[in-house]
Amino acid sequence: MNDQARLRWGILGAARVNERLLPAIIEAPNSQLVAIASRRPGAAGETLRKYAPRQQDVREYDRLEALLEDADVKAVYLPMANEEHAVWALRAIHHGKHVLIEKPMALTVADIEAIEGAAREYGVLVMEGFMYRFHPQHARVLEIVASGLIGDVRSVRASYSFMMRPARMYRLARDPGLGGGAMWDIGPYAIHSLRLCFGCEPVAVTATAKYVESGADSVASGVLDFGDGRFGHFDISFERARRSEYEIIGTKGGVKCHAAWQLPGDVPVISWWTEDGRECVEHYPAANHFNLEIEHFSDCVLKGKAPLLTFDDAKANCRAIVAALQSAAQGKVVKLG
Ligand SMILES: NC(=O)c1ccc[n+]([C@@H]2O[C@H](COP(=O)([O-])OP(=O)(O)OC[C@H]3O[C@@H](n4cnc5c(N)ncnc54)[C@H](OP(=O)(O)O)[C@@H]3O)[C@@H](O)[C@H]2O)c1
Repeated sequence: MNDQARLRWGILGAARVNERLLPAIIEAPNSQLVAIASRRPGAAGETLRKYAPRQQDVREYDRLEALLEDADVKAVYLPMANEEHAVWALRAIHHGKHVLIEKPMALTVADIEAIEGAAREYGVLVMEGFMYRFHPQHARVLEIVASGLIGDVRSVRASYSFMMRPARMYRLARDPGLGGGAMWDIGPYAIHSLRLCFGCEPVAVTATAKYVESGADSVASGVLDFGDGRFGHFDISFERARRSEYEIIGTKGGVKCHAAWQLPGDVPVISWWTEDGRECVEHYPAANHFNLEIEHFSDCVLKGKAPLLTFDDAKANCRAIVAALQSAAQGKVVKLG
C-alpha cells in the first residue's frame, strides 16, 4: 500500500494502553505512525522504544501541542486520563485532526455534544475507542439474536472483573467526578454491551457500589431497566478474579459470550442453548480487536465512511454511566429520558 493510502497517525500521551494501540497502528496496513507526544520529557521516546523497538522515523514531542501543530499528522489517538479526553479532543479537532478517543469519550453528555459540534464544524471524524466491538465474535452473537433462535431478548447480564494490580492503583486515586473508579474504567464496557444486546436504551438505572478512600468506586453492580420487564444486570469489580463475559436470555433460550473484552491469548467462545433441547459451543480463531479498530477508523477516514460507533452511542453510554454513579451515590432509582 502506498503512503497516500495510509492514514498518518500521532499518539497524544505516553499512556500504558499504548502497549496495545501503538503496535496496532504500526501493524495496520492502512495506517502509519508518524509522531508521539508526552508532557513528560523523554516519555514519548521511551514508550515508542518499549512497544515498537524497531520503528524508525517517528517524531517524538515533549509537548502535546507540538504534535497537534504537526501538519503531517492527520489523525490522533487520544489515550489520556478520562478527565482529559474532552479538552484534548477539542484541541485536536480545532487543529483539523481526526480523533480516536479512548473510552469513555468524555465524562458528561454536554462534553460529548461539544466534541460532536466541533467535529461537524471542522469536518473531521471522531470515534469512541470501544475496541471490543471490532472483534467478530460480537457480530456472531448479534446474528444469533437476530435469527430468532433464542426468541425475544428479556435479560442480559454483563460481568467484568479482575484483581487490580498495585501498579494500576492510580485508577482508583480520583473520585468518579474526575474520571476515577471502576464505573469509568470497566463500567463503560459492561454498560455498552447491555445496550448492544438489547438494541435500545434504558429508561431507568439502579446501582450500588463500594468506595475506597479517594471516593472512587472499586466495585459496582446495578440494573438497567429497558422497559417491559427487560433488565440488564452489570457487575464490575477490581477486587475479584477475572471475569469478562455477557449472557443473553431470551424467550426461547440463551447465548453467552465467554471472553467478551479480550486480552491476548483469550480464546473466543460463544455458547447457546434453546428450550427445545438444542445446544452448541462455537469456537473462533483469535482476533486482535485493537488492530481491527485501527483499521476500521483509518478506512473510514480514507474512504469517507461512517464509523461503526456513533456520537449518539457515546452519549447514550455516558448517560447510563452517569445515572449509575448517581444512583449508587444517592441510593435511588434514576429515571432516564
Ligand atoms: N481500550 C482498552 O483496552 C483500554 C485499556 C486501558 C485503558 N484504556 C483507556 O485509555 C486511557 C488511558 O488509560 P491508561 O491506564 O493507559 O492511562 P495512564 O497510563 O495513566 O496514562 C494517561 C495519561 O497520564 C499520563 N501518564 C502516564 N504515566 C504517567 C506517570 N507515570 N506519571 C505521570 N503521568 C503519567 C500520560 O500523559 P503524558 O504522557 O502527557 O504525561 C498519559 O497520557 C483511559 O481513558 C482508559 O479508560 C483503554
